[in-house]
Amino acid sequence: MKIENTKACVFDAYGTLFDVNSAAAQCKEKIGNRWEAFANAWRTTQLEYTWLRSLIKKHKNFWEITEDSLDHTMETFKIKKNMRSELLNLYKKLSPYPEVKECLENLKSKKIKIAILSNGTPDLLKELVESNNIQNYFDDIMSVESVGIYKPDSKVYEMPINKYNCKPENICFMSSNTWDVSGGGIFGYNAVWVNRFNKVFDKLSYKPKFVINNLKELINII
Ligand code: LAC
Repeated sequence: MKIENTKACVFDAYGTLFDVNSAAAQCKEKIGNRWEAFANAWRTTQLEYTWLRSLIKKHKNFWEITEDSLDHTMETFKIKKNMRSELLNLYKKLSPYPEVKECLENLKSKKIKIAILSNGTPDLLKELVESNNIQNYFDDIMSVESVGIYKPDSKVYEMPINKYNCKPENICFMSSNTWDVSGGGIFGYNAVWVNRFNKVFDKLSYKPKFVINNLKELINII
């Protein structure tokens, strides 16, 4: 099944374009064999803090939340304090997944906008795309900082609609984060779940219509 009438391809950043575990992966030797459990706990705590801060209406930006969640996870895993700055610096330059460039290259030949819609701050997102030299592929980089609340609040998903003056169904939204696929899909996007790791989808009264194993496969449905 193909997605029709797309005006913009909008990508989630963390976990979809960029590998959130790549920071801790580079410290494997220092962290030891718990590095992956540690990386997953850091990510889960980070996301929980975004949802909780949205609910309690005490917004902090994504970098501050990344620091707070790292501190919590380092304490839980009893990781030496001197790892903090190393991990944070690596998080600013996360690696993209291997197929990202090819996917963006394929989309560039089509007459559609290419954008990022992310929890990240404008500065963080700029540094991420520039450090990986993929900044020229994107027409727009949209950050939740413009609306002061995190995904999956609908104010976030409204941003591309306002920017491109289109309907939700004209947005093709890619995310590896199941809850973000549900958020965008319930909002009305054509939401595509990038299921790289053969995960089980959430039970949130929403089923994704489009599922791909990696971003290279996007070209088959766009
Ligand atoms: C983002 C988070 C959800 O980039 O990964 O918005």
